[in-house]
Amino acid sequence: MTAWLHGVFSAHRRWIAVIASIGLVGLAAGCAPAGSAVVPEPGAAMPAGASSAEGAREGISAGSALPNGATRPAAIQGVDPRMEPLVDSVLALMTIEEKVGQLTQSSASEVSTGPRVSAADRADIRAGKVGSFLGSYGAERTRELQRVAVEESRLGIPLLFAHDVIHGFRTIFPVPLAEAASFDPDAVERAARIAATEAAANGVQWTFAPMVDIARDPRWGRIVEGSGEDPYLGSVMAAAKVRGFQGTDLADTLTILATAKHFVAYGAAEGGRDYNTAEVSERTLREIYLPPFHAAVRAGAGSVMAGFDDLDGVPMHSNERLIDGLLRGEWGWDGILVSDYTGVMELIKHRVAADSTSAALLAINAGVDVDMMSGIYLHEIPRLVSEHQLSEAVVDSAVRRVLRAKYRLGLYRDPYRYSSAAREKALTLTPAHRAVARQLARESIVLLRNEGHVLPLRKDIGVLAVIGPLADDSASALGSWSAAGRPEDAVTVADGLRRAVTPDTRILRARGTSIDGSDTSGIAEAVRVARQADAVVMVLGEERDMSGEARDRAFIGLPGEQLRLAKAVQATGKPVVVVLINGRPLATPWLAEHVPAIVESWYLGVEMGGAVADVLFGDYNPGGKLPVTVPRAVGQVPIYYNHKSTGRPPSQSDRYTSKYIDIPWTPLYPFGYGASYTTFEYGEPRLSATEIRPSDSLVVTVGVTNSGSREGDEVVQLYVRDDAASVTRPVKELRGFRRIALQPGETRMVNFTITANDLAFHDRAMRRVVEPGTFTVYVGTSSDSTREVHFRVLGDVTAVPDTGTSR
Ligand code: NOJ
Repeated sequence: MTAWLHGVFSAHRRWIAVIASIGLVGLAAGCAPAGSAVVPEPGAAMPAGASSAEGAREGISAGSALPNGATRPAAIQGVDPRMEPLVDSVLALMTIEEKVGQLTQSSASEVSTGPRVSAADRADIRAGKVGSFLGSYGAERTRELQRVAVEESRLGIPLLFAHDVIHGFRTIFPVPLAEAASFDPDAVERAARIAATEAAANGVQWTFAPMVDIARDPRWGRIVEGSGEDPYLGSVMAAAKVRGFQGTDLADTLTILATAKHFVAYGAAEGGRDYNTAEVSERTLREIYLPPFHAAVRAGAGSVMAGFDDLDGVPMHSNERLIDGLLRGEWGWDGILVSDYTGVMELIKHRVAADSTSAALLAINAGVDVDMMSGIYLHEIPRLVSEHQLSEAVVDSAVRRVLRAKYRLGLYRDPYRYSSAAREKALTLTPAHRAVARQLARESIVLLRNEGHVLPLRKDIGVLAVIGPLADDSASALGSWSAAGRPEDAVTVADGLRRAVTPDTRILRARGTSIDGSDTSGIAEAVRVARQADAVVMVLGEERDMSGEARDRAFIGLPGEQLRLAKAVQATGKPVVVVLINGRPLATPWLAEHVPAIVESWYLGVEMGGAVADVLFGDYNPGGKLPVTVPRAVGQVPIYYNHKSTGRPPSQSDRYTSKYIDIPWTPLYPFGYGASYTTFEYGEPRLSATEIRPSDSLVVTVGVTNSGSREGDEVVQLYVRDDAASVTRPVKELRGFRRIALQPGETRMVNFTITANDLAFHDRAMRRVVEPGTFTVYVGTSSDSTREVHFRVLGDVTAVPDTGTSR
């Protein structure tokens, strides 16, 4: 045995001895038999809230108190009595280089596939220069990388495998903006759990999701990755996804570590240009951009990612006020703060750091624990510590957070628990997972228009023309960030329609034009095909690569010559349905005025085609609602429903009011809007009291009746307005919603409870308060179609701690 190997083994024995001495029998890295993890029944995703016996054995206890009295789920709290001694003992064994290795995230080289690990990766892992890998997955691949870490590095500390599992791993669900349109957090939580189940079976323990950035600008391509423009909806969805990914026990092999990103105000990028500066006031930050992060943290998010933006002059990767001060201090959060890709290095281009030494110092001192891909910590921090420019205690705190996450994930007990070929096979892209994807896809579809009841179509219609460049684009069905998703797994719209029609219905297909570009040569053929048909389905919009990171657009209409195609086909006089595929609100006023039926179907994932067919043929009555305002023109941007009133609210009759001279000030479609094949009637909303004190709660009750002839879902929405306050307040703010299913003729009474938390805002001194006075409650089917009722808050101005969304 070489001297080196001898050293490795004696160090490894020390690591084992430390663990044994504190009673963690079987926790020693490398001791657990490979593949020993429990294999559940195929497709048996554990229900949200369930925890495994393995987790229980590890003694992760019930929860700890946050400063404001809320309880943090076990997954992130630090009260396991055995964890801290273990973390301390490991830390005591580590050199400064090994510590910084734990704070370094790299991507394994392409050569490291299957059972092979490249020489470079092997050398880095052995030397303890990497604590986590980005983008490596697959049971075999992760097992071998892990084996090198566990058996060949000095301390045998297991690796973390991180990946962007955003809306599914292999079973791809609707993109997050579409998921939000479902207004169904339970369904979204189920989808996240399935994504976690598949990712965990494929070796991944850490996802960079949910993306909880509020976006008020559809030019920004990353609007597709979040839940839209509203902080309340965004908060509900953020919490649902964290619960879905993490469950209640991170050591469960059906759950993974979630990351709320991109902290914070990344979605406020000026001009809708990705990576751009954000300029938002402290009040807007606290009331619009921070709430979804707070909700994610409350739900137990084990990790948060810094944004690429600079906010009020301070890049987020160096923003100690918001990371150490607010996130860790004010909110009491103790998870891993991970940089975005080369975000630490980018402090140099932001021009707040003259070189990589000061970039490292700024980032680590601000509270950025893990350096993703820039390698700056690795190269700079050991020297900074030895020269006493950086306190080793700061490094130790960051390392502790990483080691705790590894412990909570159960990796010390069995480092191979997530790399199980059996689970990978049994739990990936199962029929059960696809069924959930189809249901969520159906729920995410928003019916924008249905003049003259063109929809639903008959399956025995005769001849159906399917026109447009996106009808058989399987890659676009998946949308951006599709993890391990494959286009061949996806059912396209054309295929979905083909499978649904009766045998004697003929489907004619014409592409018409390319997605982008100026080619119009296929339009004549499309018109010829349309003329032969009894009805036409036109599938138009953006291909997947037109939304997402660095996919910003200055024009947000239909790309290329698709509008020309739409006009030519519409002119045939045939009944036309437009199915829109897109990742951002598209400004399409011509379609809204001329095409009788429009279906917003986003990118719906592997079950896209079936879900669209379900809606077009009436097997499913669409009930999704817009999570974002759709403008008439890009010039209206930013446009959002919860705007301020202004001193001169827009008015048709008064010229000197806040509006345009060339187009209406109103949106094409408002936030919360979505039609149905049935009709719903709202009764008069009733209040449990018309006067309350800040400590009271108030119940709003409204009767909703399905007054049409089909079963259907309605999203009942509750908005609140403070009628007069010490600072300007939004014209209305969403404070509750409920998706309900109603049979024809059925009436359901829906209750919402309003508490001081729903009425509070930051006053001139930035105190979170409720002020006495009158409030208006709006209840209805969308943000612009509501019935109202009023109540009064009595008493004094009262401070209100932020207890999060009431859901
Ligand atoms: C950059 C993106 O901004 C971030 O969202 C993602 O998680 C990382 N790249 C890693 O892929």
